[in-house]
Amino acid sequence: MNTTELNQVFQAIFAEQADATFFSPGRINLIGEHTDYNGGHVFPAAITLGTYGAARKRDDRTLRFYSGNFEDLGVIDVSLDELVYKKEDNWANYAKGVLKFLQEAGHVIDKGMDIYIFGNIPNGSGLSSSASLELLIGLIAEELFDLKLDRLDLVKIGKQTENHFIGVNSGIMDQFAIGMGADKQAIYLDTNTLEYELVPLDLGDNVIVIMNTNKRRELADSKYNERRAECEKAVEELNAVLDIETLGQLDAQDFDEYAYLIKDENRLKRARHAVLENQRTLQAKAALLAGELEKFGRLVNASHVSLEHDYEVTGLELDTLAHTAWEQEGVLGARMTGAGFGGCGIAIVAKDKVDNFIEQVGQKYSQVVGYTPSFYIAEIAAGSRVLSRN
Ligand code: GLA
Repeated sequence: MNTTELNQVFQAIFAEQADATFFSPGRINLIGEHTDYNGGHVFPAAITLGTYGAARKRDDRTLRFYSGNFEDLGVIDVSLDELVYKKEDNWANYAKGVLKFLQEAGHVIDKGMDIYIFGNIPNGSGLSSSASLELLIGLIAEELFDLKLDRLDLVKIGKQTENHFIGVNSGIMDQFAIGMGADKQAIYLDTNTLEYELVPLDLGDNVIVIMNTNKRRELADSKYNERRAECEKAVEELNAVLDIETLGQLDAQDFDEYAYLIKDENRLKRARHAVLENQRTLQAKAALLAGELEKFGRLVNASHVSLEHDYEVTGLELDTLAHTAWEQEGVLGARMTGAGFGGCGIAIVAKDKVDNFIEQVGQKYSQVVGYTPSFYIAEIAAGSRVLSRN
């Protein structure tokens, strides 16, 4: 969507001119999965799929929301004086959460707004449409109320909304990738210290293909919170002897030596994934910087294996995509991306093999799963931004 279209649609819905237009991306994660709430490293990147917005400040204290993706819902009306979770407010709850936490942090939002959004991140695809929306709303408030905010503040407020308004105990990866993304660069982030590095995503003659299972995943419904609790319990058990706060503090050797302290097989597997995936992420970043793309690809594959067998968050759909991708010509690596339980995978594929790849993987998936997957070429883009000011 371009800014002219955004302005036109806004005008048609609210019968007023928008003050500004905005874009907030989605994200993929190259490697470092389920490590962000374990104090480990992640390696995500913002993409060109995302959420567009147009907004204007009002004179009263009414918030009016309209999504081009949920036209049936019409305009959702909310008072600035009642920023509480209400099921019937649907997606506007994300916006309410962000505005509430901005206010609680001392930022003055004393007027209502009209907000139009339209997203092209496939619904439920695990490419972080919710974090994209959170950052979009934060950016709109920052712009219209001239708030003095660091980007990191917005990132944290997005996470706070997810954790304390929506009820998903997620880590900071999605909001960070979306808020801090940069063109053609991946973000290597230490989720323990929040130190990060932008790493050029130079894949030579290869591209990243996003493979959508078209199986909807919803974080709150999934076993996401359960996995997090299993890891926390494993830390508790390890602390019978060690003194650690997160699994990310252990390397493979430490883990091996102290794994006997974990009393349950599932917890042992979850913890092993968290520790080894963090190590793989360090290695993958080094491999990418050294131009060792084949090694990078093998680490990507290893991540999937670990998520499949140790963390157990894949399932038939994601496994079929990854396993079939591994068998194709010109594939450096493939794995699930995001939380798992459906959603998307990624594959690093030679440019001239992409058509064949899509055909072969699509066919096999349809045979095994019974419906078709979708494929998109990932383009790595900048983080949330203002598109135009009227
Ligand atoms: C979801 C969460 C992230 C992260 C991933 C798994 O996307 O929102 O914080 O935990 O799952 O890596």
